[in-house]
Amino acid sequence: MALYSDKVMDHFRNPRNVGVIEDADGIGEVGNAKCGDIMKMYLKIEDEIITDVKFETFGCGSAIASSSMATELIKGKPVAEAMELTNKAVAEALDGLPDYKMHCSVLAEEAIQAALEDYQTKKSAS
Ligand code: FES
Repeated sequence: MALYSDKVMDHFRNPRNVGVIEDADGIGEVGNAKCGDIMKMYLKIEDEIITDVKFETFGCGSAIASSSMATELIKGKPVAEAMELTNKAVAEALDGLPDYKMHCSVLAEEAIQAALEDYQTKKSAS
């Protein structure tokens, strides 16, 4: 059996939603100290709906595929729903990741959580 699913390879080779949102409503950046990979998420939110999401990932193929899939899973969704996104859901949507690569999907969950927290903080400050 191939180590990586077709979906992982597809999202690694053709990542969706790569880039930066200049006037983002929420930005989250996280890293994994062990492997040194970094992920940054940008969210555009209108009426509590995620209207746009982009990411920049400096990391392994699984991290890139996980970020790409995670953005697809939350785009167009309410903030409350995006908050529930787990790394398991990201990995499942990719048809699985090898055990030792599960931490890459954790990075995607954490980056989205961090961006949503940034959004909430900015919202309560305005
Ligand atoms: Fe660290 Fe993939 S090896 S995020």
